Amino acid sequence: MIQISPLALATREEFFSRLMYPSEAIRLPLACVKRLIGYQIMPPSIAPTNKEQPVILCDSVFKVFGENAKKMLEGVQGNVDAKAFQDAGCIVGVNNASFEVFKGEMLVVMGLSGSGKSTLLRCISKLTDATAGNIYIDGQDLLAMNNKQLIELRRNKMGMVFQSFALLPHKTVLENIAFPLQVKGGKTQDSIKKAMEMVELVGLGGRENYFPRELSGGQQQRVGIARSLAIEPDIWFLDEPFSALDPLIRKEMQDEFLRLQGVLNKTILFVTHDFDEALRLADRIAIMKDGVIEQLDTPANIVLHPATEYVHKFTEEVPREKVLKIESVMEPINSSEHIGDLQVSKDAIIETVAEAVLNESKAVSVVDANDRVVGILHPSKVISVLFGGQSQASEPAATPR
Ligand SMILES: Nc1ncnc2c1ncn2[C@@H]1O[C@H](COP(=O)(O)OP(=O)(O)OP(=O)(O)O)[C@@H](O)[C@H]1O
Ligand SMILES: [Mg+2]
Repeated sequence: MIQISPLALATREEFFSRLMYPSEAIRLPLACVKRLIGYQIMPPSIAPTNKEQPVILCDSVFKVFGENAKKMLEGVQGNVDAKAFQDAGCIVGVNNASFEVFKGEMLVVMGLSGSGKSTLLRCISKLTDATAGNIYIDGQDLLAMNNKQLIELRRNKMGMVFQSFALLPHKTVLENIAFPLQVKGGKTQDSIKKAMEMVELVGLGGRENYFPRELSGGQQQRVGIARSLAIEPDIWFLDEPFSALDPLIRKEMQDEFLRLQGVLNKTILFVTHDFDEALRLADRIAIMKDGVIEQLDTPANIVLHPATEYVHKFTEEVPREKVLKIESVMEPINSSEHIGDLQVSKDAIIETVAEAVLNESKAVSVVDANDRVVGILHPSKVISVLFGGQSQASEPAATPR
């Protein structure tokens, strides 16, 4: 039977209880959360070396729907013109996608409806076969795996939350969540016990014997999330998991999802058509249009340096404080200057700490992940980012990898 560490469980309980109850942190006086500021909703920093093997590697992946897809693709040597393919009766779902995702990283795939997000996810989880290209999971060639290897991979390594919930209509909440554990060969009693833990985790205690049709969209989605978490996946595929939730719960869910990720450090491919959601969650964002990844970069670089006109349209309205990190506006430590008690993380997004910093009359300390003071921040700097445009902030460097 799979074990969950008490730490992870505690965090998860907290995570999903927040689905039902507003965040305690919101109700606490500011002073109580000062020491935690900037750590609360930040994902872990991803700093792979060049030698690190990606968990997911896509190399020129194409997915074209249609009878002659493969033949047509062979004829164009990778230069796919979606319009020409469409005229020939083929639909291009994914057009030449190449990228890597590293351990503990959350890559958010963003794009309008029909841009190919779900298709890309389905290719990587091999729910559909890519028409051309290579996909490697932990260095293993996904497309060369036989059925047995594939089943093992899905059962033990991959968790999926689908856009359409994909619940089994004739099974109860509890049975739906226990199902993958039973498929994996778990004893019925153990599977049910574990599933019950997950029911509590997602705040559906008391509804375990309901059928999916008796639940709201958001509740059904929570069953989907619980079911995918039950098997403790290393790689988590989530296709618009929060789209059925109302805005308040959705934001709570995003915060707690980040907190959970901070503890579990899973490798995540998260699909959304909501740019704000992408900005809040992503380590990096891939923006898709007509099957093509138009840009793949950190949220800050996407907003500050949009690569195409299409990406620019998404980013032009985004306030800088939503993507710039404290690191980009901090100043060197100055021993003669009087510093207040407040500490903020260098990796915190300015928006998340602005209010607290502006409540201070003095400069505040900026600390790294090991709590070492690495700089200072004047409230006036925050004001200039909030009200003075981006010129006051040094822009992030090119993509970290
Ligand atoms: N099984 C299929 N057969 C034919 N065409 C398909 C199939 N699945 C997807 N497509 C097409 O591939 C393109 C990408 O679809 P996909 O579902 O990946 O979009 P999406 O970005 O996930 O959109 P949404 O935000 O609406 O979920 C669309 O043009 C769609 O019509
Ligand atoms: Mg989709």
